[in-house]
Amino acid sequence: MSVTQLRQRSLLGLKELDKEEMLSILDRAAYWENQPEKVQAVIPGQFVANMFFENSTRTRFSFEVAEKRLGAEVLNFTAAASSVEKGESIYDTVRTLESMGIDAGVIRLKPIGVLAELAERIRVPLINAGDGNNEHPTQALLDLYTMRKQFGSLEGLTVSIIGDILHSRVARSNLWALRTLGARVMFCAPQGMQATELDAPYVTMDEALRADVVMMLRVQLERHEGGLIRSAEDYRSHYGLTVERALKIAPHAIIMHPAPVNRNVEIDDELVEHPQSRIFTQMSHGVPVRMAVIERALS
Ligand code: CP
Repeated sequence: MSVTQLRQRSLLGLKELDKEEMLSILDRAAYWENQPEKVQAVIPGQFVANMFFENSTRTRFSFEVAEKRLGAEVLNFTAAASSVEKGESIYDTVRTLESMGIDAGVIRLKPIGVLAELAERIRVPLINAGDGNNEHPTQALLDLYTMRKQFGSLEGLTVSIIGDILHSRVARSNLWALRTLGARVMFCAPQGMQATELDAPYVTMDEALRADVVMMLRVQLERHEGGLIRSAEDYRSHYGLTVERALKIAPHAIIMHPAPVNRNVEIDDELVEHPQSRIFTQMSHGVPVRMAVIERALS
C-alpha cells in the first residue's frame, strides 16, 4: 500500500480532515444505520486488531460490533493482559501485531504524539480510538452524526462544550470538526480546566445554555494532577447541568455527553435519560459511524 493510500485510509484525527471527507463518513454511517441485516460481510478475511492501552467500554465494544457486522476477523488486545506488563513498548507491540498480518489497527493510547510516530512506521491503516487529550475522532464523528440527524445540518448550529476542556480529546476533535462543518463552538469551564491554546470563546453558564447543543464533559479525575476541583458538589453547583439549569435550555435544543458520565457531578442523574438528552443515542450511533470508518480503512 502506498504512503498516500495509507494516509487516506487511516484516521488519526479530524483537525486535518476536510469537509467532504467528514460528510462522506457521515453519509456512509447513515447507510449502515439503515441496513436491516445485522451482518453484511463486506470485508471478509480482513483482520482488525483493537489495541487498547487505556481503558474503554463504548469505543472498544462499538468498534468490535462494527467490525463483526462487516464480517471482519477481530483481535482484541488489552495492555493489562499483554507483554506490555513485562515492559514491551507500544511500538514493539503494534509492530508485533503488524508482523502477524493484521490489515488495520484501532488504537487507544495515553501519551500524546506516539500515534503520529506509529503512523510513520507501521504499514497498515491505523484508527485513533483516543490519544491522551489530543483527539478522539470517532467520538466526534458520532457526535456530529447525532447533531446532523437531529438538526438536518451542522451549518450555523451553536454548540456549547462545558466542563473539563483542558483534559478533553472530545472537545478538541469536536471543535475542529464543527468549525470545518460551519458550526459555532463556545466553551464554558472553570479557570483551571480551560485550554487557552484552543481558539474558541469562553462564555458563562447562562450563555452556554442558550446553544442548540449543550455538550457536557466528564470531569477527568484520572488526568488531574490534584487540586482542580474542591469537591464534586462544589463543581456541580458552578458547572454542573442541574435540573434547575436545564430549565433554561431551549425546547428544540439537545443535551449530549460522550460518557462515561459522573452522575450528579457534571450532569444530574435525572437528566441523563431526559427527553432532550441524546446520551444513549450517541452511543448507538457509535456502531454505524465506526462501520463507516473501518470500511474506509479496509475496503
Ligand atoms: N466515550 C468514550 O470514549 O467512552 P469509553 O472511554 O468507554 O470508550
